[in-house]
Amino acid sequence: MQKRILTGDRPTGPLHLGHYVGSLANRVRLQHEYDSYVLIADVQALTDNFEHPEMLEANVFEVALDYLAVGLDPEKVRIVVQSMVPELAELTIYFMNLVTVATLERNPTVKEEIKQRNFAKGVPVGFWSYPISQAADITIFKADLVPVGEDQLPMIEQAREIVRRFNRLYRKVLIEPKALVGAMARLPGTDGGAKMSKSLGNCIYLGDSTETVRKRVMSMYTDPTRIHPTDPGHVEGNPVFTYHDVFNPNKAEVEELKERYRKGTVGDVEVKQRLFDALEKFLAPIRERRAEYGKNRARVREIIMEGTKKGRAVAQATMEEVRDAMKLSYKFA
Ligand code: TRP
Repeated sequence: MQKRILTGDRPTGPLHLGHYVGSLANRVRLQHEYDSYVLIADVQALTDNFEHPEMLEANVFEVALDYLAVGLDPEKVRIVVQSMVPELAELTIYFMNLVTVATLERNPTVKEEIKQRNFAKGVPVGFWSYPISQAADITIFKADLVPVGEDQLPMIEQAREIVRRFNRLYRKVLIEPKALVGAMARLPGTDGGAKMSKSLGNCIYLGDSTETVRKRVMSMYTDPTRIHPTDPGHVEGNPVFTYHDVFNPNKAEVEELKERYRKGTVGDVEVKQRLFDALEKFLAPIRERRAEYGKNRARVREIIMEGTKKGRAVAQATMEEVRDAMKLSYKFA
């Protein structure tokens, strides 16, 4: 029997190169070997966007388009919408008994996110406890593997803890999932910041036009110590070269550019121009597929509905077992 993978994204807008490097590339590769589910986590997106639920429908659709555009094959991968699987909410409630407040408060990713978000009226319980709901996401589909970016490792650890407690306390129903971190953990932003993030405006989106990509690349942060193209430059930690390493398949060209950059015999403009060419080659087919699916909304809708139906069937079967293990399948006989 094929092992199963489950991943997910919050639908807060279109996906970018950071998503691609951190997890989409892995999913595309793994779809041939694994029984694959991807969850569009709209309920999780609500935990910090609850004041704007009207954005979700369009965002869910955009994320589905991005999945199809990068090459997730709807014959192989089930695209599942979280809010359309209410069993997830039920499992989350049961899991809440298995997690302490202290454990939630220690979660480094959530801590960091709370800092960034600066919730004016205090941290909503839904946001603070989303690792529990994410544990339900992972376990309800009985995933063996979860391909994610490294910031998600605490979530997988939390899920594993819950599974161990559940299985020990009730009965061995759930599978302890393993994380699979992408080949490259994190792609820096175009501004040289640690990661691409919508709120920082340092992203290149999978659906960006040629012109936007050109502008983004040509204005990328490079080596701040280098003033003239004849100054010896730094390659390490220079996001332009990090991107070259990831997206330029012509390794000889990349090595040559690095050497010339270190010696001060190539300008930033040329290095960026070559990066733009490489990115265009990478993005053009994605953009094309995205546009094609975008013209066929009925087909995308059908893929989402079909995937969600299959996902929900798995979730319902798991919940039968969960309720049974928890002695909640009352017969009153
Ligand atoms: N927390 C993930 C993110 O912000 C999204 C997500 C929700 C997820 N449920 C998941 C990821 C289950 C992996 C598995 O990107």
